[in-house]
Amino acid sequence: MDCFESIIKRRSIRKFNREAVSTELLKELVKYGSMAASGMNVQPLKYIIATSDEKCSEIFKHTRWAGYLKGKGSPSFNERPAAFILVLNDNELRKSGYELDAGAAVQNILLAAHAAGLGTCWLGAIDYEKINEITGIEDRYKLISAIAVGHPAQKSISEPSHGDIKYYLDDEEVLHVPKRGLNEVILNIF
Ligand SMILES: Cc1cc2nc3c(=O)[nH]c(=O)nc-3n(C[C@H](O)[C@H](O)[C@H](O)COP(=O)(O)O)c2cc1C
Repeated sequence: MDCFESIIKRRSIRKFNREAVSTELLKELVKYGSMAASGMNVQPLKYIIATSDEKCSEIFKHTRWAGYLKGKGSPSFNERPAAFILVLNDNELRKSGYELDAGAAVQNILLAAHAAGLGTCWLGAIDYEKINEITGIEDRYKLISAIAVGHPAQKSISEPSHGDIKYYLDDEEVLHVPKRGLNEVILNIF
């Protein structure tokens, strides 16, 4: 799969089969994250990989999914992700501005995972304090985002938005994700 296809076809996946994802593959995804652009090339981001049933279940309890679908978009017990990658800032390396680094790194991970046949969901609606406790994150680090990773068990497609950007499920449980068109997002061409 080329870069263009991965960018266009990647969608957030919120239902997974329970097949494991190897630590080696997850480490490779982190490698792609760490190759992202970084302000002043400081590279302040650190990562935690969780694959054990115990840790993943604990983290899962403190995540929230698909707000627009009002409960219908969350993975059921058997549809939970096989792994989580937590993205953290190292406060000793960078005190502010790291969010943009994190955005670039997370997107690399999502695209690489898609190219590898995996599904991901970027999770920002998480209980930061609880996940800090569960994973023993020290004060030096600030949790920024979690990424759910697993083998996809859901079909999600993009479509042109016609004013409404809320994603929705159709009768066949396919997720439709409206995307704004170029006529809307390009303000001007000089
Ligand atoms: C910063 C950020 C935080 C997000 N947090 C969540 C979240 O907590 N739960 C969730 O289900 N999806 C979350 N998403 C996924 C978005 O809902 C998703 O990207 C959006 O609906 C577009 O769908 P797509 O990723 O398939 O293009 C987040 C995405 C971003 C960029």
